[in-house]
Amino acid sequence: MPRPEKTCEKTAGESRSEGAVGRSVEMRPIAIDLFSGCGGLTLGLKQAGFRVIGAVDNDPLSVETYKLNHRNMVVWDQDIETLKVRVVKRGLGIRKGELDLLAGCPPCQGFSTMRTLNGAYPVDDPRNDLVFEFLKFVRGLLPKAVMMENVPGLASDGRMEYFCEELRRLGYDYEFRVLNAARYGVPQRRRRMILLAGRFGSVPFAPQAECVRTVRDAIKGLPPPGCSGDGLHDLGEARTSRIVELIRKIPKDGGSREDLGPGAQLACHQTFDGFKDVYGRMAWDAPAPTITGGFVNPSKGRFLHPEQDRTITLREAALLQSFPPKYRISLRRGKFPAALLIGNALPPEFVKRHAQEVRIYLRQAAGSRVRRSRGADHANNR
Ligand SMILES: C[S@@+](CC[C@H](N)C(=O)[O-])C[C@H]1O[C@@H](n2cnc3c(N)ncnc32)[C@H](O)[C@@H]1O
Repeated sequence: MPRPEKTCEKTAGESRSEGAVGRSVEMRPIAIDLFSGCGGLTLGLKQAGFRVIGAVDNDPLSVETYKLNHRNMVVWDQDIETLKVRVVKRGLGIRKGELDLLAGCPPCQGFSTMRTLNGAYPVDDPRNDLVFEFLKFVRGLLPKAVMMENVPGLASDGRMEYFCEELRRLGYDYEFRVLNAARYGVPQRRRRMILLAGRFGSVPFAPQAECVRTVRDAIKGLPPPGCSGDGLHDLGEARTSRIVELIRKIPKDGGSREDLGPGAQLACHQTFDGFKDVYGRMAWDAPAPTITGGFVNPSKGRFLHPEQDRTITLREAALLQSFPPKYRISLRRGKFPAALLIGNALPPEFVKRHAQEVRIYLRQAAGSRVRRSRGADHANNR
């Protein structure tokens, strides 16, 4: 039987390094976010004390949402393949070697296990090569540290081998790990690969939290959707009466369609036994399943509210991704595109914890460089 997870008593994120860097106002290191989406990664970096000075994304809705939440920086709303490193350096007034952190999350659909048919047949997707665009910026900017996130599938892809060889050739120490965000203060099971690299030795990863946050911690206090005054929480859903009836029957707090017995299954589920989680409810006292861009559709996974007869709302999904309650997502194109932005985001809390470690690393590296140069001055003056 799986070991029960210890849940957190307090909902605030805890981290051993928070005090060290979270309150500090001196010397905020600078970062750039590649493939910035709706800004989950940027938010986590800012929460860790970084100043994000530039971002790039070619999706207009992502850029619009990003700008609603993050100001005072340069955002290139264009295809990264057409963006020259020298334009970025000039636009931000930085020289090669000056940037503290280059962070980013190249599109990962191409590497996901769904795209590779559960690993059986790899699917070559041109978006996979955008990893090399990330590398183009590492070569051109030579940042002090690098953070790249992706789905676990990238870890075993040949492109990753090439990526790492290049990092080594450029003088970086690196490590990548596949980690579960639920172990880092996010109320959601989400396995992701994260690579950390540095020019002054290896960069430590954040320590795991001692307890897990749950669906209850994240969304229990919300009013029922409909008249909360929050557009992301109030959007309704249109379902056929047959589906509404099925949803009502799913047992509360973690039940699934399997609990209903063979007679109560939809015709499409009677002939196919896979995807057992679909039309499942989340459980109050466990982390949520991975929030994908399809969470508004109960046939895409365990996305039903623990007790209300509906899928989770956009606001609930954003909270389960560890966005703060007031984070804005553009609804200009409607519910489904907004859901995709939320599902594609990196959980800010997960980013924050690792970025805090990067910040400590940068500070220590700067300290030892200063000590070395003082030592050299001293020796020269003798
Ligand atoms: C996985 S999402 C990034 C999520 C983001 N880091 C966050 O935390 O919210 C990948 C992003 O890459 C963007 N993208 C895809 N192809 C691109 C390209 N050729 N140039 C620039 N951005 C691109 C997509 O629009 C999408 O927003």
